[in-house]
Amino acid sequence: MPKMRLDKLLSECGVASRKEIRQLIRSGRVSVDGAAAASPEMKLDPYKALVCLDGTKIEYAKYHYYMMNKPAGVLSATDDGRQKTVLDLVTPEMRKIGLFPVGRLDKDTTGLLILTNDGEFAHRVISPRSEIVKVYHARTEAPVDEADITAFKEGLTLGDGTKCLPAGLKLLPDGSCLVEVMEGKYHQVKRMLSSRGKPVTELKRLSIGGLKLDKALLPGGFRALEENELCSVMKKK
Ligand code: URA
Repeated sequence: MPKMRLDKLLSECGVASRKEIRQLIRSGRVSVDGAAAASPEMKLDPYKALVCLDGTKIEYAKYHYYMMNKPAGVLSATDDGRQKTVLDLVTPEMRKIGLFPVGRLDKDTTGLLILTNDGEFAHRVISPRSEIVKVYHARTEAPVDEADITAFKEGLTLGDGTKCLPAGLKLLPDGSCLVEVMEGKYHQVKRMLSSRGKPVTELKRLSIGGLKLDKALLPGGFRALEENELCSVMKKK
């Protein structure tokens, strides 16, 4: 690993802004390998040096991955002049590392949303070519039936001519359903169900690949992904 500047390392870890980091270093609160850091420009190997802030070890990671239980009423965007976004729900430190949502959930859709600053990862998760299945729980105005299930399996053509890849549909005992899709077209699940005369009244994403929404996360709650969870995202069906 090539050496990097101490202030860059701390900034990529989301410790504080570059300006605040320089102040932290000047005031002697940052140490490198046991000695107070000399300057923000000092170069070090981020994976070998022991960097501490106020005596607490800072674990270097260039990329960060979180899961959020997106609440209704919030946009899947980084910022918006007028409306609240998912980035308004996270900590100031997390906002500093350039997180963005992986794909979009509609404003009224809830559930699993991944936040990361890793563009390549996000691209792979979203691309239908990766064949990563996203599972949604939907409530509809009327329960889906066998004909709907077959139509989903064969690949729907929406009203505007948009062709959908084959998708899974399962009726649940309470009349709601599970939808499994590998692509993320605009309002995809809602449009698919509407095209069958079953408009969606509630939509929640439950999983992406092998990554399941943590049931302990309240709406608006978030947490870092574990290493094994991160790997599970890419799991194909
Ligand atoms: N499909 C939709 O229609 N809406 C979402 O938010 C996600 C998938």
